[in-house]
Amino acid sequence: MRARRIVAALGMSTMLVLAGCAGGGAGSDDGDDATDAAPTEDTGSEADTGSEGGETEAAAGGGDLSIGVAMPTQTSERWIADGDAVQAGLEEAGYTVDLQFAGDDIPTQSQQIDQMITNGADALIIAAIDGTALSSQLDAAADAGIPVISYDRLIRDSENVDFYVTFDNYQVGVQQATSLLVGLGLLNEDGSEGDATGPFNVELFAGSPDDNNATFFWDGAIDTLQPYFDDETLTVPSGQTDFDQAAILRWQQETAQKRMEDILTATYTGTDLVLDGVLSPYDGLSRGIITALQNSGLGPSIEEGLPIVSGQDAEIASVKLIADGVQFATIFKDTRKLAAQAVIAADAFLAGEEPEANDTETYDNGVKVVPSYLLESDIVYDSNIQELLVDSGYWSAEEVESGVAE
Ligand code: GAL
Repeated sequence: MRARRIVAALGMSTMLVLAGCAGGGAGSDDGDDATDAAPTEDTGSEADTGSEGGETEAAAGGGDLSIGVAMPTQTSERWIADGDAVQAGLEEAGYTVDLQFAGDDIPTQSQQIDQMITNGADALIIAAIDGTALSSQLDAAADAGIPVISYDRLIRDSENVDFYVTFDNYQVGVQQATSLLVGLGLLNEDGSEGDATGPFNVELFAGSPDDNNATFFWDGAIDTLQPYFDDETLTVPSGQTDFDQAAILRWQQETAQKRMEDILTATYTGTDLVLDGVLSPYDGLSRGIITALQNSGLGPSIEEGLPIVSGQDAEIASVKLIADGVQFATIFKDTRKLAAQAVIAADAFLAGEEPEANDTETYDNGVKVVPSYLLESDIVYDSNIQELLVDSGYWSAEEVESGVAE
C-alpha cells in the first residue's frame, strides 16, 4: 500500500491532530470520554484559514497522501458543514482532499468513489446515501489496500468497512422522544416528571429506510415512548405505528409534508381530534411537517396551538424556528467533533495503526461488527440555544436571528 511508505512523515501529523484534539469538547458539558477526545471549536472555523502557523507548517510534511471524502448531498446544510470540516481537518493535517457531494443520487456516489479509487486515494471517508449500495466500491478499495471509514452512516453488507465514526444513534432517538415528552409537558427539561397528564395524540415519522441510522433513531424513540403508549397517555390516531409506514425515503422534506397532509386529511379533518405532537427525526422533515400543520390552520406558533415537533441536526433554519417558538426542539450533533474523529481515524490507518474505538459491539453491518467511535449529542431547546450553539461557536447570534448560515 502506497501509504505505508510514508508512515514516518505522517507520525508528526498524527501527533498534531491528536494534540489539537486534547482540549475538551465544545458545546457539550457531559464530560464523557467521547467528548473529551473531541476538539475545541477551533476545528470548524480556524481550520479553514490555516490555524496557527506552526501546526500548518509541520503538518504540511504529511507528503502527497490524498483522501477521498464522499458526502451524500448539499441540499442539507449539515452535510455541507461536515464536508467543510472534514476537508479543513485533513488539509490541516497535511493531506490532499478530494471532496465530492452526490446530490443524493446513488449511482453518482458510486461513480465518485470509483473515481477516487482510480485516482489513487490513500484512504476513503464515506457518508453513504444508501448504506447497502457500495459493496463493489468497497471490494475495489480493499483490493487496492485503501482503508474505508464509514462516516455518520454505517455502510452495510460489506466486510471492507474498516472503522465507523458516528454519534450514539440510539441515544439520539431517545433524546428526540424525550424532547417530544418535554414539549407535551409530561417531562421537564431536567428529566423530572412534568405537570401534564394527557392523554395526547401524536404522529410518528422515521428517516430514510436505506439509512442504517434511521432504525436506531426510531428504536431509541419508540422504546422511550412505549410506556406512554402502554398506559394510553399517548395515542397515534392514524394507527401508523410501524417503521415502514413512518419512514421518509431519502429524508425528503416534501415527502414528509405530503405524509403529514395526508394524515391530517384522513384522520383529523372534520373530527374533534386534536393533534398534540409529532415525532420527527430530522430538521428537514420537521420543517415539512410544520408547513403542513400551519397550512391546515394550526399555529402558526406553539403558543397559538401548533403541535410540538421534534427534530435533529440543529440546522440553522430550525434553530430560528425554535427561537421563534415554532419548532419545539432539535438534537445537536456537533459536526466539528465528528469530522475531527474521522481525521484521527484516517491518520491512524495511514500511520499503519488501528484507530481507537469506544464501541465494538453495537454496529453490526450484516457481515461484521464494525469498530466504532461514538460521540454524544445534546437536546436543543429555546432555553439552551445560547449555551449549546452560540457560545460554542457553532452558530452566531446573527445566524440564529436570521435563520440563515453565513
Ligand atoms: C442521518 C444523519 C442525521 C440526518 C439525516 C438526514 O443519517 O445521522 O443527522 O442528517 O441523515 O440527513
